[in-house]
Amino acid sequence: PVQVKNILCIGAGYVGGPTCAVIALKCPQIKVTIVDLNKARIDAWNSADFDLPIYEPGLEDVVRACRGRNLFFSTDVDKGILEADLIFVSVNTPTKKSGVGAGFAADLNYVELATRQIAAVATSSKIVVEKSTVPCRTAESMRTILEANSKPNCRFDILSNPEFLAEGTAIADLFSPDRVLIGSLQTPEGKDACAALASVYANWVPTERILTVGLWSSELSKLAANAMLAQRISSVNALSAICEATGANIDEVAHAVGYDSRVGPKFLKASVGFGGSCFQKDILNLVYLSESLHLPEVAAYWRQVVEMNEYQKRRFSKRVVDTLFNTITGKHIAVLGFAFKADTGDTRESASITLIRDFLSERAFVNIYDPKVAESQIWQDLAEACPNLTLENIKKQVKIFPSAIEASRNSEAIVIATEWKEFKTIAWAEVYESMKKPAFVFDGRLLVNEAELTKIGFKVATIGRPTA
Ligand code: NAD
Ligand code: UDX
Repeated sequence: PVQVKNILCIGAGYVGGPTCAVIALKCPQIKVTIVDLNKARIDAWNSADFDLPIYEPGLEDVVRACRGRNLFFSTDVDKGILEADLIFVSVNTPTKKSGVGAGFAADLNYVELATRQIAAVATSSKIVVEKSTVPCRTAESMRTILEANSKPNCRFDILSNPEFLAEGTAIADLFSPDRVLIGSLQTPEGKDACAALASVYANWVPTERILTVGLWSSELSKLAANAMLAQRISSVNALSAICEATGANIDEVAHAVGYDSRVGPKFLKASVGFGGSCFQKDILNLVYLSESLHLPEVAAYWRQVVEMNEYQKRRFSKRVVDTLFNTITGKHIAVLGFAFKADTGDTRESASITLIRDFLSERAFVNIYDPKVAESQIWQDLAEACPNLTLENIKKQVKIFPSAIEASRNSEAIVIATEWKEFKTIAWAEVYESMKKPAFVFDGRLLVNEAELTKIGFKVATIGRPTA
């Protein structure tokens, strides 16, 4: 197989950035260039003080170790294409907003544009790796486009190599992945290309964890993995509603169920609902695929995972209103956490946004604190979530604070929306003193010690437990 010496990654986002930075770290013999059309993003990756465009524990150390050595960030996509022998396409594939499949299908425009650019610019053979999450058979379309536009003596081999990292733990996940999945055509050339990419990962991933399969299996496995992970959360969240109504405790139920080695203990934490850029988008994509294949029952099955998640968010904001004597108009609610999960500054599809939108429509005042999310991002997300309100009006109802304690002062209730570790060690007695009474805590993340807070005087409502 080809010895990979020069890697290009198109797309310097949450996936392309960390993934290819780790490849550069683990493979000092390979030159890795990450390109993006977004100049501000590339400038941040190149910033002198390592003020990187995404927050991810451990990422800065990796970039410090390799940037300028064998890791480069650039906006010169064409130069990158010319030099590379292997190209990762790691561009965004959001849910389509209009046209055929709107609201469900993946928007493949960015993948297609990147593919066309590779075909137009390349003057030598390349291995092109689909890193973005895409519907089944996208590799086939990429191959058709590349072959129809290639120059003589240019061969393109297409691989699928979906990424399984989770945000917040991306570097740890990349250092020791459960598995690396590579899909290829089962032809001699396809298998050679697959071996070339496998040899890159073999620099640090044990070979038994590098799985090689057909192209379509690889593409579908990515959607399947996310659908099954999200399905666990929707299942446990559905049970949390039963717990609240009956007096069972979802933590105890999940623990008992997860003790069965066939189920396993991970990923069974009830919550205010899953967020993130992947789960909803990839399930909707699977729903669309199922419908296109005339499998309406299969589509309905997976769609319900997303519907349960919407229900969980709605149910939680309703519980807040109900508990606060059926009205929150004019009341102050402190929302702790705006990111979709802990240890990231990413807010895409964050449940926090939905809750705040609901509180604003009840005409409450909302005080927000998040340790990592930039203020500008919060304003942008709320403006998008509340199209009926001007930003000026949103700012009359919402304030952003630099700490949990300041956000909570004079409020009627605290809502924990993200499982940031620091929320466990808030000086609760001090917070209690500064709040209006009765003071409520709504724990959407099973984070705080309910007994301890109740002793201080708080009224506590925890997801998956009846209100005491
Ligand atoms: P992102 O939006 O953070 O990054 C994508 C980047 O690609 C953007 O910076 C954009 O400017 C750039 N881009 C788009 N078209 C380009 C082009 N033609 N040339 C150069 N740059 C271009 O997205 P992300 O979160 O990194 O996700 C990328 C893909 O990986 C998606 O398909 C996603 O589903 C998948 N994925 C994401 C995660 C995750 O945790 N975020 C995990 C696994 C898989
Ligand atoms: C997910 C997949 O885990 C990852 O493999 C894939 O590559 C991308 O999509 P990510 O969205 O970054 O990763 O984070 P993840 O840890 O999966 O959390 C997703 C959402 O589910 C978060 O909002 C999280 O808070 C929530 N969650 C997770 C729960 O509510 N309960 C759990 O038990 C686990």
